[in-house]
Amino acid sequence: MNNRQLVVDFDLQREDDELVVRVTINNHSQVDLDDWTLKFDLPKAIRPHEGTRLISHIGSHVTLGSSQQTALPSGEQVELVFSGAVSMIQRLSDLPRGLYVSHGEPLAHLRAELGSHNLETIATGRVIPSSGGSTNPHVAASTEIGSAGAGAAADSVTGLQAIVPRPTSTQVSAGVFSVANLLTYHGCAEARLAIVWLTDMLPLECQASETSAAAMDFAINPDLVEEAYLLRIEPQLISIQAADAAGFFNAAATLLQASDAVNNAVRWPCGVIEDRPRFNFRGLMLDCARHFHSKDTVLRTLDLMAQFKLNRFHWHLTDDEGWRLEIQAFPQLTERGAWRGEGEVLEAQFGTGPGRYGGFYSRDDVQEVVSYAAARQIEVIPEIDIPGHSRAALKSCPELLVEEADASQYCGAQLYTDNVLNPALPATYQFLHTVLDEVCDLFPGEYVHLGADEVPDGVWQQSPACSEFMAEHGYESAHELQGHLLRDLQAYLASKGKKLMGWEEAVHGDKLDHTATVNAWGGIPIGTELANAGYGVVACAAPFAYLDLAWDENAFEPGYYWAGTCDLATCYGYEPTTPELTHDGAHRMIGMQAVLWSELVREPAELEYMLFPRLLAMAETAWTAPSDKDLSNFVARLPFQLTRLELQGVVHRRLDDR
Ligand code: ACM
Repeated sequence: MNNRQLVVDFDLQREDDELVVRVTINNHSQVDLDDWTLKFDLPKAIRPHEGTRLISHIGSHVTLGSSQQTALPSGEQVELVFSGAVSMIQRLSDLPRGLYVSHGEPLAHLRAELGSHNLETIATGRVIPSSGGSTNPHVAASTEIGSAGAGAAADSVTGLQAIVPRPTSTQVSAGVFSVANLLTYHGCAEARLAIVWLTDMLPLECQASETSAAAMDFAINPDLVEEAYLLRIEPQLISIQAADAAGFFNAAATLLQASDAVNNAVRWPCGVIEDRPRFNFRGLMLDCARHFHSKDTVLRTLDLMAQFKLNRFHWHLTDDEGWRLEIQAFPQLTERGAWRGEGEVLEAQFGTGPGRYGGFYSRDDVQEVVSYAAARQIEVIPEIDIPGHSRAALKSCPELLVEEADASQYCGAQLYTDNVLNPALPATYQFLHTVLDEVCDLFPGEYVHLGADEVPDGVWQQSPACSEFMAEHGYESAHELQGHLLRDLQAYLASKGKKLMGWEEAVHGDKLDHTATVNAWGGIPIGTELANAGYGVVACAAPFAYLDLAWDENAFEPGYYWAGTCDLATCYGYEPTTPELTHDGAHRMIGMQAVLWSELVREPAELEYMLFPRLLAMAETAWTAPSDKDLSNFVARLPFQLTRLELQGVVHRRLDDR
């Protein structure tokens, strides 16, 4: 397939209260296209104009045709017109993606190239003077080592003073600890992971030795709180105290940041750091369903999390656009539900085009990820997102999960009309129990996340099974049906020693007990409300913690913006608690997490660009006492950290704006 054979131009015009999109398909190929349709991904509601047919719109996947011109001969062009809300396309990220034309009999698919567009004329945000449009001048990568983006290298801080997240107290003294080739240490059982990690990360051989001869000494100090550590670096000795393995590991993260490798020697500036976390739950959620991120990308993400003392990896494994976890009892979930494209049970979404796109994690992959995370003191929290966001499961096992007689009509935020499991079918429970058997077997952590977000209005209203079930149980609302299902699953998880986690909507219907922990994503007040109501809360208010949001108003900055834009200062300014939190509520606010949805994030470089440096801001808010946080101090530490990231080949957004 030659990309230049088909070119699609977009002309965007505001007319009255709408955005009108004129699409011109130019057939530069040698082939006459018969019975053609144009397909692309646009996750916004649209209305076809006269002459244009909206054949289907499934999630983001649009199929358009012409009511007049069913043939598109070689060398000719055709125009299609549709409209939608003015806000439908404001940024480069909003433009239709994954364009292709399906044609002929048997059906063939020809990818199309995005040709011209006039985004500049309708974009509401600042627009970079056109340098091609698709290149992003804010990217800094390993090719720009030392640039660090901040332009503040001269007065930037280094070593112990540049640690992120900012420690509780830091005293720097004269002198350095320097070691070449061999680092001798005296450890204790709790220090094992810290020692293994240091050995892994430093260009040194590490060797156990007697206390008196060791250059690095790990000792238990039961007076320190969970995860805290005391680190003392002197010219001849580094001593580390902690009460637990996590404390030693956190000290190792600080040591790795402060280390300086020069000419085969590793050096540390002398000083003393006392440090303890604000929250014990410091997380990152990664969406591996909308786009599939390889196991290696997941492992690298875990590596980077550990460096900033993040200790919970919330792994979003299932969604409408893909089921990513091998389940032995239901192989069809990954045989069918892990793939999108023509001829698959799931259509292309978010630009993935006609070819087979997707992937999944085998049980071996999961075991590798879980143990890799555990070696970095990170607990993995698997998410099976139900009962909404379940289209991949429903399309994989329709014979089991779909009630044929259900005539309910609904359309959720992502425009699906068929993505919700039915809580009145016994098969739904059998299916989920079986899935959870395997999930609990694979993931040793405390929590299993069951999603529960964004179940649309209208669902289950025309389901005979649900009507009967509601009458039987005296339920009056769809929320109660969802609550019934989640209560069953909470008990099922409890019987396996696990706790249910969910998005904030998991409390709808008020059927969960208070062992449930929820992600408060809808704003800061909802976190307070739910913690005061008795639930554990992990705060992740979208305007601050959703790192799939664009950095700023620039129309060429990648990302969503439904919850506003989120630059470093916004992200750093996130304070998840409020004065309205009760004493008990404050204890139930167990932590916070960054969230990376990946509708727009396909490649590892895109993932890193969205995460860095904002993830460092989130890590600092999760770890550092609010009274010790200071934006300008944080920004002064960043060049040092960004240089370290660049040396690891990490792509990040630059801090300057040019
Ligand atoms: C969510 O953003 N749907 C949790």
